[in-house]
Amino acid sequence: MRALEPVRTTLEGLHYWPTALAEPAQIRLLDEVLAAVERAPFYRPVTPGGRPLSVMMTNLGPLGWVSDHRGYRYQSTHPETGEPWPPLPGALLELWRDLTGDPGRPDACLVNLYRGQARMGLHQDRDETDMAAPVLSVSLGDTAVFRFGPAGGGKTATLRLGSGDVCALTGPARLARHGVDRVIAGSSRLVPGGGRINLTLRRAR
Ligand code: SIN
Ligand code: MN
Repeated sequence: MRALEPVRTTLEGLHYWPTALAEPAQIRLLDEVLAAVERAPFYRPVTPGGRPLSVMMTNLGPLGWVSDHRGYRYQSTHPETGEPWPPLPGALLELWRDLTGDPGRPDACLVNLYRGQARMGLHQDRDETDMAAPVLSVSLGDTAVFRFGPAGGGKTATLRLGSGDVCALTGPARLARHGVDRVIAGSSRLVPGGGRINLTLRRAR
């Protein structure tokens, strides 16, 4: 862990830790995630309206975020294998403890895989019961152009999230609108086959 003090951004409550994970820690975490993904493979969710997402997803931890024709929700099993999600890596629990200052623990980690033209439209994370807990996001691999703006609407701005960067939506930014405009292909060699993996830790219940 290099820096515990986050960098402030133009949005109050959006905290940013550039290269919170140095390269060896990124490699260890990625290895753990890829081993878990063997048991809980990436799949392509659809929106409640039936549109496939450009991002592939899976989850780690007791609960996982899913989207399908029935809506958005957290559930304890992988929608395709029917098996429980693999456990949350210890390194992620440590990051949550060291960076967020939250006294509790996350119970869900969404794993997003961005390849090619994959992106994520502006949205709010609002399927969690406990909005007091932050959302902590860890980036691995290619750099993302992350867009964010206040919960209530208005002007958005962007932040480039590179491999090992961590950011958090806390307090007044917990319900900030955010998304990924694009991922810069070839900007990192970390992820085998290229692309970006984002790990989003939340307390769902
Ligand atoms: C998300 O909001 O689920 C992911 C954001 C990101 O990929 O950085
Ligand atoms: Mn989100």
